[in-house]
Amino acid sequence: MTEKKTYHIAVIPGDGTGPEVVREALKALEAVSHREGFKLEQVHFDLGGERYLRTGEVLPASALEELQGFDAILLGAIGHPDVKPGILEKGLLLELRFQLDQYINLRPVILYPGVETPLKEKGPEDIDFVVVRENTEGLYSGSGGILRKGTPYEVAVQESVNTRMGVERCIRYAFEFCRRRNRERKLTLCGKTNVLTFAFDLWERVFHEVAKEYGDIQTDYAHVDATCMWMVKNPEWFDVIVTDNMFGDIITDLGAMIQGGMGIAAGGNINPEGVSMFEPIGGSAPKYTGRNEINPLAAIAAAQMMLDHLGEGSAARRIEDAIKRVVASDIKSLSAGRMGHTTSEVGDLVARYISIA
Ligand code: IPM
Ligand code: MN
Repeated sequence: MTEKKTYHIAVIPGDGTGPEVVREALKALEAVSHREGFKLEQVHFDLGGERYLRTGEVLPASALEELQGFDAILLGAIGHPDVKPGILEKGLLLELRFQLDQYINLRPVILYPGVETPLKEKGPEDIDFVVVRENTEGLYSGSGGILRKGTPYEVAVQESVNTRMGVERCIRYAFEFCRRRNRERKLTLCGKTNVLTFAFDLWERVFHEVAKEYGDIQTDYAHVDATCMWMVKNPEWFDVIVTDNMFGDIITDLGAMIQGGMGIAAGGNINPEGVSMFEPIGGSAPKYTGRNEINPLAAIAAAQMMLDHLGEGSAARRIEDAIKRVVASDIKSLSAGRMGHTTSEVGDLVARYISIA
């Protein structure tokens, strides 16, 4: 008998509603592993606000080292109301992205049939694109500082760091991804070349240079402010968007809203040569913690992305089909507390659809 293929997954449930949604994602993974005949071995990591408040540790070196040995990481949420903003975000989430060199943040913006979008007269055929966000540089690099703090002469500098290597690997990934996605084969660079004439000069030059190797991909450019406008007015114009860390952060929240909300938006922090981490992008939602009311579909979609990344495309499609079925026929709204079902019921439905499909 042949050994079943086994994936080693690190699970970081994290803060707030993170553990609740991760539990449902694991149900979906369990169900799909039976259907597809692979095994998932999980190790749970106690990281996040509770641990920090208990022990003062955010990301111990030993945990970081251990995480490097997994096939992928599934993350719930980071952020705790009793912890000063920045400590967990920078010390844990960004630290993981940086230390594991997850240089791509991949965020699909897809409206499923049956899901309500705030965009009037737009439907699933109009909202179907992916944002490739650079994930290790830009304004997130931590470069800068404060001088003369607390005085009237205070100076705060926060610099956007853009390296040739960092920009090029992100843009190359975006072209490759666009080709693999094989939809409209159109890649839009989102920048601000009219004002950020250093950073986006580099981005634009690299974009056009790399484009020469991808004659099958149509290229386009939009300023970030115009991108926001088009995402609302003509989202059907986008196939794949590539952009820097800060702009990518902002436009993907807008993207999440037009695809039905944070209840369904997932993302992957990807290191194509290393360990990648998948997460619902909505955060820890402290208000809903422990109430069994939060929507687990974003975490389930993160698990779907994880399987896709691991090369289990058919398993990923099974999860996506189950999500589509739940949003089309079972839940009333994607918003927490208004689904007409509890968190665990939604997870059970997804797992059941995977099992019977
Ligand atoms: C996201 C989040 C993070 C970011 C925060 C929590 C640091 O907003 O994943 O988009 O800004 O990248
Ligand atoms: Mn964000």
